[in-house]
Amino acid sequence: MNQAREWLQQAQSVVALTGAGISAESGIPTFRGPGGLWRNFKPEQLATPEAFSADPDLVWEWYEWRRSLIAAAQPNPGHLALAAFERRAPDLVLVTQNVDGLHDRAGSERIVKLHGDIWIDRCLDCDAEQTVRFDDARVVSSHYCGCGGLLRPGVVWFGEALPLDAWRAAEQAVRRAEVVLVVGTSSVVYPAAGLIPMAKSAGAKVIEVNPEQTALSGEIDCCLRGKAGEILPALLG
Ligand code: OAD
Repeated sequence: MNQAREWLQQAQSVVALTGAGISAESGIPTFRGPGGLWRNFKPEQLATPEAFSADPDLVWEWYEWRRSLIAAAQPNPGHLALAAFERRAPDLVLVTQNVDGLHDRAGSERIVKLHGDIWIDRCLDCDAEQTVRFDDARVVSSHYCGCGGLLRPGVVWFGEALPLDAWRAAEQAVRRAEVVLVVGTSSVVYPAAGLIPMAKSAGAKVIEVNPEQTALSGEIDCCLRGKAGEILPALLG
C-alpha cells in the first residue's frame, strides 16, 4: 500500500480503470463470480443486437430492472474517493466499463465511458439520444422516440464496437499515464482489458484493487487485495 501511495502522490498523470466491482458495495451485482448477472442471465439473450431485434420488450424489461436497482443505490466510499482524488489531482482520467452512472453521481467529472450509459436511450431510426433521469426509473417509458422509431439502451452490447471517441480518449490517457489504477474488473473483456498491457508497455506503474486475483494480475506491479470501498479511501486519501 505504501509503495502504491507513493507512486500516486508523485505521478503527474493517472488513469483509473474501473469495472463492476467498484459498484458492488453499492449493491449493484457484478457480471461474473458468485451472484454475478451472467450466472443468472444469458448475455446472448439480453445484451446483443440480435437479442434486441428478436425481443425488444424482454431486453427492455431487463434494463428497466437494472435501472431500478441502480436508481435505489448510492455511490460508495470507493466512488467518492476517486472523485475527491480528481479534485486534488486534476490530471486524473477515469475510464470506466460501468454504465451505472455512479461515478457521475459521486462527483467525478473526467469520465470516459467505454461501454456507454444505461441512463441514455438512443433511437434506432434517427440516432437521437435522450437522457433518462434516474428518479424516472420506475416510470416505464414507451421506448419510442418522437420520430416513431424504437429506442434502445445507450450501452455497448456484445458484438458491437466501443464508441470510437471514448476508446481514443482512453488509449491516449493510458499512453501518457504514469500510474494506472485498475479497480474492480475481472480484466477478461476486451478491448477494455487491453488497456492494461498497453499501460505496461508505455511504462506506467499498474496497481490493481480487487479482492480476487484476475486474468491480468500477473502483469500488475502492485496488487492490493480487498474491497474498493475500503482500499481506495486509504490509498487516495
Ligand atoms: P466482472 O463482473 O467481470 O468482474 C468484477 C470484478 O470485481 C471481479 O474481479 C471481482 O473480484 C471484483 N470485485 C467484486 N467486489 C469488489 C469490491 N467490493 N471491490 C473491488 N472489486 C470487487 O465485471 P467487469 O470486469 O466490469 O460489458 O466486466 C467487464 C464487462 O463485462 C462489463 O462492462 C460488461 C460485462 O459483460 C458490457 O456490458 C459490454
